[in-house]
Amino acid sequence: MYQSKIAGLGKYLPERIVTNKDLEQVMDTSDEWIQERTGIRERRYAEKHKETTTSMATQASLQAIERAGIDKEEVDFIIFATLSPDYYFPGCGVLLQRELGITRTEVGALDIRNQCSGFLYALSIADQYIKSGMYKNILVVGSEMHSMGLDFSTRGRGVTVIFGDGAGAAVVQRSEVNGQGILSSRLHSDGTYAEKLSFIAPGSHGGYHNDKLDQPIDYGFDTDSPYGEIFITQKMLDEGLHYPHMEGQFVFKLAVTKFPEVINEVLEDAGLQTSDIDMLIPHQANLRIASFVQKRLGLSEDQVFNNIQKYGNTTAASVPIAFCEAWEAGKIKAGDLVCLAAFGSGFTWGAALLRF
Ligand SMILES: CC(C)(COP(=O)(O)OP(=O)(O)OC[C@H]1O[C@@H](n2cnc3c(N)ncnc32)[C@H](O)[C@@H]1OP(=O)(O)O)[C@@H](O)C(=O)NCCC(=O)NCCS
Repeated sequence: MYQSKIAGLGKYLPERIVTNKDLEQVMDTSDEWIQERTGIRERRYAEKHKETTTSMATQASLQAIERAGIDKEEVDFIIFATLSPDYYFPGCGVLLQRELGITRTEVGALDIRNQCSGFLYALSIADQYIKSGMYKNILVVGSEMHSMGLDFSTRGRGVTVIFGDGAGAAVVQRSEVNGQGILSSRLHSDGTYAEKLSFIAPGSHGGYHNDKLDQPIDYGFDTDSPYGEIFITQKMLDEGLHYPHMEGQFVFKLAVTKFPEVINEVLEDAGLQTSDIDMLIPHQANLRIASFVQKRLGLSEDQVFNNIQKYGNTTAASVPIAFCEAWEAGKIKAGDLVCLAAFGSGFTWGAALLRF
């Protein structure tokens, strides 16, 4: 049976640093509030009208491919996780193939829409393709350009201050060394509260939200027309529905329960314990969530890697960026037991345990 190892990691963070003080200039917020509630000091924003979700992913991918010691034409399959794609369709997978200059059409490109847990979903899919023997090298990427779609007025402060831009990538590769690579991965979902962390306009729902089907919301659609119409109305724009919506405390409470649960599941699958973890890389949602999870699992501070202070929450990119940065800093070495875990919109959550 084949194993899936991480052969190379890459990351890309845009140069522009946006501090909490910078945000104080455009909305009613404070450095103190942001740091105390989230741990974030600054985040990166991509260069407007120049960089894109795909262009950042390209930089991270080139680094991962080079570090894996393969040629880009050896990539068999691309899995791209993002909630901020360049286009509504086609997805970023094919755009990345084009920007990387991969000319082989035998390469498949898959787009993942699982928000903060997107990279965990992508990694799990890659693992199955490698283990089945179908592919040898899979490029797994998470990239986000939030800064083009945030509400920079005070109305959006509960969400906007949290998010940042960036990309992370991994080459997942076939290995025949027993015990190396991904030991276990688990994925979960519960759509009951889908709209509590959502971005609903544009969309084809026409006011019929699945959690309130008997009470359609009047967004100003032309309901008399027998034909379809545009996905977004002026009323939706006025109400800011084209920005992310989050019920922060609700998300927080669920996240602190689900992270430890799913981490314990992958440990149990592998017959290991929390004390065996050399490095836990949690999705960088909030430093308080990470610290709660660390204490709940009885881990030391050295066993958990955080970089939200510098980059904010980069959604699907946060786990691969943190994974790459921990490795670059020498905090992850060959043979270490690494646990990746994420929770986010959907809600979806997951974890992967791997021997690096
Ligand atoms: C978003 C989050 C930081 C907000 O922190 P919180 O302690 O829950 O704060 P609340 O939303 O209850 O807001 C408390 C007050 O701060 C205010 N506030 C919100 N954002 C603010 C900001 N950026 N600056 C200043 N004040 C702010 C609110 O308006 C509220 O004021 P009020 O009491 O006068 O109504 C926190 O809930 C969180 O991190 N949740 C999880 C987020 C997450 O993980 N998201 C991604 C999942 S992948």
